[in-house]
Amino acid sequence: MCGIVGYIGNHNSKEILLKGLEKLEYRGYDSAGIAVKNESGVHIFKEKGRIADLRSIVDENVDGHIGIGHTRWATHGVPSKLNSHPHQSTSGRFILVHNGVIENYELLKRDYLTDVSFISETDTEVIVQLIEKFVGEGLEVLEAFRKTLSLLHGSYALALLDAKGDDTIYVAKNKSPLLVGLGQDFNVVASDAMAMLQVTDEYLELMDKEIVIVTKNEVAIQKLNGEAVQRNSFKAKLDASDIEKGTYPFYMLKEIDEQPLVIRKIIQTYQNEQGNLTIDKNILDAVNLADRIYIIAAGTSYNAGLVGKQLLESVAKIPVEVHIASEFGYNMPLLSAKPLFVFISQSGETADSRGVLVHVKELGYPTLTLTNVPGSTLSREADYTLLLHAGPEIAVASTKAYTAQIAVIAILAEVAAKRKGIEVNFDLIHELGIAANAMEVLCDSKEIIEIMAREFLTGTPNCFFIGRGVDYYVCLEGSLKLKEISYIQAEGFAGGELKHGTIALIEKGTPIVALATQKSVNLSIRGNVKEVVSRGANPCIISMKGLNMDEDSLVIPEVHELLTPLVSVVPLQLLAYYAAIQRGCDVDKPRNLAKSVTVE
Ligand code: G6P
Repeated sequence: MCGIVGYIGNHNSKEILLKGLEKLEYRGYDSAGIAVKNESGVHIFKEKGRIADLRSIVDENVDGHIGIGHTRWATHGVPSKLNSHPHQSTSGRFILVHNGVIENYELLKRDYLTDVSFISETDTEVIVQLIEKFVGEGLEVLEAFRKTLSLLHGSYALALLDAKGDDTIYVAKNKSPLLVGLGQDFNVVASDAMAMLQVTDEYLELMDKEIVIVTKNEVAIQKLNGEAVQRNSFKAKLDASDIEKGTYPFYMLKEIDEQPLVIRKIIQTYQNEQGNLTIDKNILDAVNLADRIYIIAAGTSYNAGLVGKQLLESVAKIPVEVHIASEFGYNMPLLSAKPLFVFISQSGETADSRGVLVHVKELGYPTLTLTNVPGSTLSREADYTLLLHAGPEIAVASTKAYTAQIAVIAILAEVAAKRKGIEVNFDLIHELGIAANAMEVLCDSKEIIEIMAREFLTGTPNCFFIGRGVDYYVCLEGSLKLKEISYIQAEGFAGGELKHGTIALIEKGTPIVALATQKSVNLSIRGNVKEVVSRGANPCIISMKGLNMDEDSLVIPEVHELLTPLVSVVPLQLLAYYAAIQRGCDVDKPRNLAKSVTVE
């Protein structure tokens, strides 16, 4: 969701900005723009659509040593050239890019800017107009920037250029992510390190309500009250090859294929020298002190949380509730006496989850974040963090982060159980290894799954997924994947629930994907399949070896019954992928979606 880049230094900035924006494409956006400053002023190029569309309108003869760029995911105002960033103040002097939402922008317009004609429908334009107004009233640019920030309610990451003033990029952030990258005779600004890895791997983290004055040789961080802040930089531990597609047509396919490797890496990372799984003692204490765990998450991470509940309850014997982050804030359940809040988030930036984190921290409850992104907001702000070690996930539809989340929770459950003296009657390292091998087998079965996608999903307007027990949770994820990237209306149901309403939608040929990986419910889920088949449905049964029957479309290798989600989700991810390809969809950048949802 919205991405920001900025460059100031000795080189021309245009290509660096455009390349940076390309690296931010994965976050999801609908328009983009850049502004470059040179001796003749600031030149702005904006376009609706992809970075490629922006490239096509950028004047090749214009460049400059300072510039800012933006990918916009529309919140206030439709996706259009006019609403895309950078935005300019009326005189053209100030140029701004913004990520986030200014909640009081209408109030600010009414109180301060009644004489200004706004060009766009965005909340962002208010910020740049306020800066111009305060400079017009006699404030220095930095003071005007500071005063403007003090009036804003909401979230923002900002980069500002002054067409008339010194060569400086003014930067600020509150709740939305932003980093400053350091170089020799240049500095950069970026929503994430990946965007600017092309020029530097050294970054400064920014905290909420900080201002940063970035020139080509200096980066000065201040608090909103002007007090200087000293901070050490860090090296972004990213390998450039991690963020390249290589020979894959889409990142999603690469990331599906990486899953067995990620599981093996997780096993390795969480193993100590004696070969036992291990977790930070403080985290174990927090888990074992809790009388109930509240998992808070969104989207795919929520679906992983449901599987996590099963693992934590059956292995570590701790009661767990799983909540959708966006609901929890307004609809808080009656809490237990000693809750532990566990935030699951691939990006570590989801605003809905962060909203809950801030709230429960105010209430004094302990918090743990499971995330793929070290240093992300949720990681920084929670008491404890467990990392997923899945490597950068670029495709909007999450795949390897989902399986990594499940594997890390399995490890947490096992280690917490053992510490409490609860007997664990299986060898998790061994079972995770078997699951990784099984995932590999399925990744090698792409041709079969591609045919299944053609056979079951060609031309269908909808598709239902059914399963019982943990299979139901995987069905929720399988249906989410399918709808996200192929736009087929897809829903996951508990096997027994379909007949209480949704069966009315079954017609001749309606595809039903059924999962059958749980021995205890194998016969009942097959009974549910019969109910829909007798009403004309076209069933695609995916079962596990040992439970399989003649009519099954695909049989996954046998794995421990608690770990089946790691494996059964792979054919569902691939079904979604091939259905999307067969429909000509842009798999990595589905319409309307963003990877990192930084607005509530
Ligand atoms: C967005 C993405 C989903 C993701 C969800 C939660 O909606 O499109 O793929 O599952 O956010 O993201 P998080 O980073 O918190 O896991």
